Amino acid sequence: MHSSSSVSKRLILIYVLAIRLLLINSELSLNTTNEYLNHTCLVSLGKYKAGSEYDQLFKNIMKMFYKNSIRGYDYFSEATFTAILQCRGDSYGPKCRDCFVTALAALRRRCPWYKGRIIWYDQCLLSMDSKYSIGQIDYDNSFCMSNAKKVVDDGISLAFIKVWNNLVDDLTELATTGDNSTLYSVGEKRYKGDMVYGMVQCTEDLSRKACQECVWYNTFHFHDCVDNFRGARVVGRSCTFRLEFYPFIAKPVRNI
Ligand SMILES: *[C@@H]1O[C@H](CO)[C@@H](O)[C@H](O)[C@H]1NC(C)=O
Ligand SMILES: *[C@@H]1O[C@H](CO)[C@@H](O)[C@H](O)[C@H]1NC(C)=O
Ligand SMILES: *[C@@H]1O[C@H](CO)[C@@H](O)[C@H](O)[C@H]1NC(C)=O
Repeated sequence: MHSSSSVSKRLILIYVLAIRLLLINSELSLNTTNEYLNHTCLVSLGKYKAGSEYDQLFKNIMKMFYKNSIRGYDYFSEATFTAILQCRGDSYGPKCRDCFVTALAALRRRCPWYKGRIIWYDQCLLSMDSKYSIGQIDYDNSFCMSNAKKVVDDGISLAFIKVWNNLVDDLTELATTGDNSTLYSVGEKRYKGDMVYGMVQCTEDLSRKACQECVWYNTFHFHDCVDNFRGARVVGRSCTFRLEFYPFIAKPVRNI
């Protein structure tokens, strides 16, 4: 009697542990699909206090963002406060909401009480600012990440640079023209035996012209980080673009 009950207790324990392991694993695999990229606390804009007007506004706007995150983006601006949520073009519905929730919690932890703060994930960007900045290009808060592997081991490949420049130009055009342009586009081009996959996106508060300017500025500014590598991304507060030698957007992409 005694031993059989302790055996079944042990079985239950093993069962519970197994479920926990499964949960942890699925959590891990979920997170790797939306990797944390970077964050910045804009220290010079100062801090706010709990219960202040700023705090109240921040909380209200975050509630609104939570609701609207389903559509893939949101933004709000007044004289002393701007907030922007922008999910990657293929990330809307619960995917965007999940990214927003993760980003907001991480931003509160990493930049506690800072009025200005930005965090980037693979699938979304969340930023706060203490002035009116909707529609304005942020030239300061951008960074570039490139893969270690080079396109050619010694020197540069002008042929590759040409393909890459054409791809980013075409994608920018695609993202900023047409009746229903969403400031987002994906596409691919052939480079020798490989396919190069690309993506361009601006935050939805920008005009089409500002979007083009942002991408052009960053392609020029970061060309050293992009030109020679088998994959790179420039990520900013206003615009982002990425190229890889493998498809990184789940949906079928357009060949341009
Ligand atoms: C995965 O993300 C969730 C929130 O989306 C977080 O609670 C959890 O701690 C993360 N897990 C790991 C292993 O980073
Ligand atoms: C993170 O972003 C900041 C700009 O906001 C940049 O200066 C820094 O180099 C970036 N860090 C990494 C690891 O890319
Ligand atoms: C643009 O959107 C409108 C309304 O949502 C729709 O009627 C129209 O067909 C769309 N145009 C294109 C080119 O997709």
